[in-house]
Amino acid sequence: MSQTSDRSPEAGPAVSPAELDSAEALQHVLEPHAPSRLDPTAPPVLEVEDLKMWFPVKSSGLVRRTIGHVQAVDGVSFQVPRGGSLGLVGESGCGKSTTGRLITRLYEPTGGAMRFGGHDGSEAVDLATLSNRGMKPYRRDVQMIFQDPYTSLNPRHTVGAIVGAPLLVHGVVPKDKVLDRVQELLEVVGLNPEHYNRYPSEFSGGQRQRIGIARALTLNPKLLVADEPVSALDVSIQAQVINLLQDLQKEFDIAFLFIAHDLAVVRHFCPEVAVMYLGKIVEIADRETLYSRPHHPYTQALLSAVPDIKQAAVGGRRERIRLEGDVPSPINPPSGCRFRTRCPMAQEICAKVEPPLLQIGQRHKVACHFPGELGKHPDKPVTARLLGVDDQGSPDPGAGPATDLGNKPGYDSTWFDLERRTMAGA
Ligand SMILES: Nc1ncnc2c1ncn2[C@@H]1O[C@H](COP(=O)(O)OP(=O)(O)O)[C@@H](O)[C@H]1O
Ligand code: SF4
Ligand SMILES: [Mg+2]
Repeated sequence: MSQTSDRSPEAGPAVSPAELDSAEALQHVLEPHAPSRLDPTAPPVLEVEDLKMWFPVKSSGLVRRTIGHVQAVDGVSFQVPRGGSLGLVGESGCGKSTTGRLITRLYEPTGGAMRFGGHDGSEAVDLATLSNRGMKPYRRDVQMIFQDPYTSLNPRHTVGAIVGAPLLVHGVVPKDKVLDRVQELLEVVGLNPEHYNRYPSEFSGGQRQRIGIARALTLNPKLLVADEPVSALDVSIQAQVINLLQDLQKEFDIAFLFIAHDLAVVRHFCPEVAVMYLGKIVEIADRETLYSRPHHPYTQALLSAVPDIKQAAVGGRRERIRLEGDVPSPINPPSGCRFRTRCPMAQEICAKVEPPLLQIGQRHKVACHFPGELGKHPDKPVTARLLGVDDQGSPDPGAGPATDLGNKPGYDSTWFDLERRTMAGA
């Protein structure tokens, strides 16, 4: 078979390819937003607490000593609700893939917990502490879809071998039934089941990503880590793959950690979204809150780049907020707030004290000393008293003892009310 074009036979939307060649077009061909299916009372499928991945940096020469660390992920906490999906967003290099790889235990974490299960009455297990052997049953439950459909499939194996391999490794179906299951899966992801004996090179990018999805589904996972699953695809194909993932999520009740580098794609998929910057979560909230009332300057800048008319609601402005400078190195991140070297609002306290990820609403947390809607950021740091410092960030005995704000996943029933500057509850 000759190489299949991405435009056919998959291309469906009645928009020309030229029109589709922008992120804006993506908004038109996606299905309506996935309904919010967050049940705040249901136990999560995955609970990540204070997760860290510091890669050692070695000196050159014969005796290779550790001379520093890449703080790729540095104290990240979140929950992935059952059957729901959490979006993880941030610029390239902020630690998204590392987080995904930790959850699938492709990396051994430097610290923190990753409690999996418990949503179905079973006891939650900390994936961070399991041996390779202990991980084996959970490797079935937690699968990953990779960003690049060209490098993630072995070019020398047929599609049948690629999709069927996990079935053989885990011995979940008898050998003579593997082909049936492979064909069933190819059909589920919208590929011709008769094409099982073809090679990846005979498929288009979108079709290859469908093969990657079929492989991830093979063992009936409970959680899928989708690491920028559509970034490498043409915009018209992106929409189809996202819609497929959304259908699969509903049909098989799979929870997703959906990683993306911008907020446009995630908006359609995830009822809850976390924004990462330089190894940390800077804001996390339900979709409605995050997109209409972001309180962190970084989220506001990212959102100003989303070409969606509804973003006019964000502070009543649509012009793009351009961030100055480059993302600093995670080997030597800025003191205090890591975003301060690029933040238009940074003040003295920002360099001295790290802002805690403070809960400021029922399902809204933000890590900024001056949290507020665009144009309505407070003049004085709201965090100073909580942290036992003065407005410049110096220790202040008069401010009283620092409150233990912790770094817990999920939300409390009480939170910090920004208007009244006190704790409030539902
Ligand atoms: N295996 C590794 N060894 C050393 N540094 C790494 C490794 N993997 C990623 N990094 C570094 O960790 C940071 C986060 O990377 P990554 O998780 O891939 O970010 P993202 O997926 O958000 O683009 C980057 O600075 C990257 O260079
Ligand atoms: S803490 Fe300071 S530097 Fe960090 S985001 Fe808030 S205002 Fe900007
Ligand atoms: Mg990545």
